Amino acid sequence: MKNLFDLTGKVALMTGASKGMGKSMAHALAAHGAQVVISSRKQDQLDAAAQEINDAVGATRVHAVAANAGRPEDQQALVDKTHALLGPVDILVGNAGVNIFYGPISEIPDGAYEKTMQVNVQANLWLARLVAPDMIARGGGSMMFTSSIGAFHPSETLGVYGMSKLALIGLVRNLAQEYGPRGIRANAICPGLVRTDFAKALWDNPEAEARANSQIPLRRLGEPDDFGGAAVFLGSDASSYVTGQALTICGGSNMWA
Ligand SMILES: NC(=O)c1ccc[n+]([C@@H]2O[C@H](COP(=O)([O-])OP(=O)(O)OC[C@H]3O[C@@H](n4cnc5c(N)ncnc54)[C@H](OP(=O)(O)O)[C@@H]3O)[C@@H](O)[C@H]2O)c1
Repeated sequence: MKNLFDLTGKVALMTGASKGMGKSMAHALAAHGAQVVISSRKQDQLDAAAQEINDAVGATRVHAVAANAGRPEDQQALVDKTHALLGPVDILVGNAGVNIFYGPISEIPDGAYEKTMQVNVQANLWLARLVAPDMIARGGGSMMFTSSIGAFHPSETLGVYGMSKLALIGLVRNLAQEYGPRGIRANAICPGLVRTDFAKALWDNPEAEARANSQIPLRRLGEPDDFGGAAVFLGSDASSYVTGQALTICGGSNMWA
């Protein structure tokens, strides 16, 4: 039987991949044979991440292209450069996300609301539209987008962030519906609290550790490397009949009900 997780010959395009979960996902995709373009806003961090992964896998499989996910012209250039470097895209990982306001939704400034929705939701629609023709021409592909367990609960401090991540799941379901007949799958990954720079204010305190150690079934916070397996699963034939889903990866802190 063939290796269901083999990604040899596949081209992956990722946003938000210079550090944190994105970098771990890029490493896992490359380790399973994919050629990967990683993107984020800062070229120097991207170059360092690409070098680190290439050294680890012992081959030049990861390429660094700076792009701001919130700018359509950057996204077009990112896809053009990916085509020039590696050819058509088989796997899309929309992982870039922002959380720029902490407080009640009644107080969020319009600009912060718009930016959150644009980067976390609309930017992923732009990207999906840009790579879908590649996937259609090849008879299929896989798209995955990083949502959050914040999508499933209201919050008095991260409300608009949670709304944006719920809207992203809505986008995923619609992409799955619209592109499914062309062989394209679309899924969301919903992390719990993960020890990255992005969420440092939420986990870097004794109370958060104590809560994790007493309430999360697996008794720990998430680590970036907990996400490589999901990226390989969703990007590969191992998930050939999985689409339109929100895969929750949270140590059991959020169970289906
Ligand atoms: N950590 C958690 O607890 C948690 C929980 C649930 C969901 N998430 C989601 O997980 C995703 C990844 O976050 P992380 O925790 O791994 O964060 P991280 O370690 O801080 O990494 C974030 C990545 O996104 C890039 N980025 C940020 N804004 C961008 C933009 N406008 N355009 C392109 N790249 C951008 C960053 O690089 P540059 O700064 O160079 O652009 C970096 O590569 C996000 O969508 C986040 O909402 C995180």
